[in-house]
Order: sequence, then structure tokens, then C-alpha cells
Amino acid sequence: MQRFHVTTFGCQMNVHDSERIKGMLEAAGMGEAPDSEQANVLVFNTCTIRERADDRLIQALNVARGRKEREPDLQIVVAGCWAESVRDDIFRDFPWVDAAVGPGRIGALRDVMNADATSERGAFGSFDDFAADLPKRRERSHQAWLQLSMGCNSVCSYCIVPSVRGRERSRNVREILAEANQLASEGVTEVVLLGQNVNSYGRDLAPDARCTFAELLRAIDAIDGIDRIRFMSPHPKDMRGDVIAAMAESPSVCNQLHLPLQSGSSRILKRMRRTYDSERYLELVARVREAMPDVALTTDIIVGFPGETEEDFQETLRVYDEAAFDHAYTFIYSARNGTEAAGFDEQLPDDLKHERLGRLVDLVQDHAARRNTALIGSIQEVLSEGPSRKDPEICRGKTRGNKTTLFTPAAPVGTVVSVRIEDSTSQTLRGQVVSAVTV
Ligand code: 5AD
Ligand code: SF4
Repeated sequence: MQRFHVTTFGCQMNVHDSERIKGMLEAAGMGEAPDSEQANVLVFNTCTIRERADDRLIQALNVARGRKEREPDLQIVVAGCWAESVRDDIFRDFPWVDAAVGPGRIGALRDVMNADATSERGAFGSFDDFAADLPKRRERSHQAWLQLSMGCNSVCSYCIVPSVRGRERSRNVREILAEANQLASEGVTEVVLLGQNVNSYGRDLAPDARCTFAELLRAIDAIDGIDRIRFMSPHPKDMRGDVIAAMAESPSVCNQLHLPLQSGSSRILKRMRRTYDSERYLELVARVREAMPDVALTTDIIVGFPGETEEDFQETLRVYDEAAFDHAYTFIYSARNGTEAAGFDEQLPDDLKHERLGRLVDLVQDHAARRNTALIGSIQEVLSEGPSRKDPEICRGKTRGNKTTLFTPAAPVGTVVSVRIEDSTSQTLRGQVVSAVTV
């Protein structure tokens, strides 16, 4: 029997696509190998958003090449954004790769894997199929991704996504709600709504089928059984009053928001083509906090964008302080081929970028520790993810604010418990179960 192993790089969208890739391979009669060593089909689902992603992937492909020299029957398949960005060159530059698909062509995976001398080993360029419509294999029984849209219409000057994932296409609302109902009937209690720009959902739908992101949040909230709704990633420009109201008024929508800031300097934001400035961003944060006082707010920040001065960076630190984020993903700017910013003068030296990143990370940790300390003494509703990695007696789970919480006594995976928080670090909360809420 053919046994596959999928390695996933990149964002949640890729994690979601990998579930579809596994589902398709299983539907084709293959089984998943317990590890890559025992697989005879290696699939790499790739990302190209930052240089580091490219480096890690090329390393992994080189390891696979070594194995293929010893085991010529090994099949090597590359899917995802990096595959799209290099397209057919992949077969010239990495001749040991057997087949490749871009993120819009996952449905063609079996065809390219079975290609012979007369058919194509690569499928790229079209963005017609929603991976959501393909068979799937969920990793967790109580949690699921729900794809709302594909692609992105923004033109952020640093970002490769629009060129590898195409323009935004929203999925039909009836299909989304049918999938959400189906998930609920299978016992899923938490859904994470996915889109490259999730809250511009619906703008491209025909007038008779139109539905806004806010309306969709309310419709999913109304589904029995779905108790936690999260979404990622929204764009600040589309975070309007109706979305904030729908979040605040829908009991199932979690008190959590990931709202990418990217930079605190209005001058840099303009060069990034983010279409908001730092003042508007902070006003937005104030409105969100007013509607949801206990919201946990996280963000993405890029340091070292071309031309970023010390003053610009200070602005990022100032805005970070004022927004008082719970956490942040911090990135060092890396030039991506074909993006506008890759052509900007004033690319910064690596040591300066690293030095700024270090200062930002210190501030991120400081706020994270403070925000978590403020939760000591509170009771949090925690969804159990089972025993912690280090100690089977201790369970781990997530609060509605998406904070990792370690607690005792243990509760089965998928159960919701009330936990009194007794201790915290910048990364985790710790506490005792005071009562089981539901099973
Ligand atoms: N360099 C560094 N970080 C980037 N991101 C996107 N493109 C780049 C780039 N060229 C970051 C952004 C985005 C996150 C997913 O990755 O912060 O929100
Ligand atoms: Fe996700 Fe963007 Fe990376 Fe593609 S390039 S995997 S969309 S983060």
C-alpha cells in the first residue's frame, strides 16, 4: 500500500489545505504513514511569505533528495504557495521533484501524481477550486477550520500572497452555512473562519447572494452546538462598526481578535499601502475595547521595512504600548521577489533589523506577562486539548481569549471546564478546575 506523509509550512490556510490533501490521498486508497521515514509518498505543502520559509523548505527538499537516491520509487510532491511562486521552474531546479500543484489547484493533485510522459506534472495558476469542497481529514474532533474566501485584493507592498493566491473570491454563503451545520452535527464546537482578508468577505458576491462578514458571524453564531467562533486574519480597514457589533452581540464569538498592525509609523504604513494610519488603528482598538472590554488582542508586526528610521521604529513601540496587546507575531522584513517593496531603495542591514526585533520582542513579552498577570484570580472557561506534553497529570487547553492554560485535575479532550487562574507567565496561564461546564 502507498503511504504518504505531509509536511506543512506556513499559515492556517496551509494547515487547512493539508487536511484536504490528506483527505484526497486517503480517498485515493493511500494511508498516512506514522512518520516520513515510513512513507513512500512525501508531500511538502509550502509557504513563501518570508525568506526563512523558503530556506527551511529547500533544506527539507535536499534531505528528500538524499533519500530518493537510495529509494528511487519514493514520490516527492510539492504543493502550496512556494510551488506557485516558482511554478514549472521547480522541475528544472529540483529535478527529483515528481509533481507539484499551486494552492488553487489542490484538486489536481491526483492527476499530477499519476502523470505520464504525455500529461503535466505541474498544475498552477488557476484559482477556481475551493479546497473546502475536497475530501478532508480533521486533526481534532472538536475543532475545525472553515474557509470563507480565497485570495486577497489588497496591495500591501511587502506581500507575496496576492500573486500566489490570486484575487479574492468569497464562497457562497449557503455552502459555508451548510458546512458549519455539518461540522456541528459531527460534534465540532469550535470553528476558525479563514480568509486571507477574512472580514472583506462577501464584497465580490452577486447582489442577490450578498452577505456581509458581520451577517455571516451572526448566522454561524445561531447554529446550535457551535460554541466558539474565531476568525483570521481580518484587515483593520474592513473592521467596521457592524463587525464589532456582531462580535460583541454574538455569544459564540470569542473575546479574541487578531488585528495585524504591521507598523506603528504612519509614514511606513503608507509605504506598506495598508490604507490606515496609526491614529485610525488606535481609534479602532479603542472601539473594540469599548464593545468588548475583556477582548484579548493580538497582532502582527514587521520590523525593518525599507526606509524604517529609528523614529519610525519608536512609533511602533509607542503604538504597541498604547494598544497594550496580549501578544504579537513579530517578523523581520524580508524582500519577496515580485513585490513592490523589494524594489524600494534603503533596504536595511540585517544587524539593524535584528537589533530592533530584539527590542520589540522585549516589549511584547513585557505586555504579555502583564496581561496574563491581570487574569490571576479570574475564572476562565477552558476547552481541554488533553494532557500537556510534559506531564500527563496536567491538562492543557485554551480560554475563550485563546490563551494556553495548564490545569488540574485533567479533563477529557473537547470538554469545557471552569478554571480559577492562580499563576501565569508571558506564555501560559495555570489554575485549578472549579467546575465542569459541559461534556
Ligand atoms: N517580510 C516579513 N514579514 C512579512 N509578512 C508578510 N510578508 C512579509 C515579508 N515580506 C508578515 C505580515 C503578515 C504575516 C502573516 O507575515 O506581518 O501579517
Ligand atoms: Fe499562507 Fe501566505 Fe505563506 Fe501562502 S505565502 S502559506 S498564504 S502565509
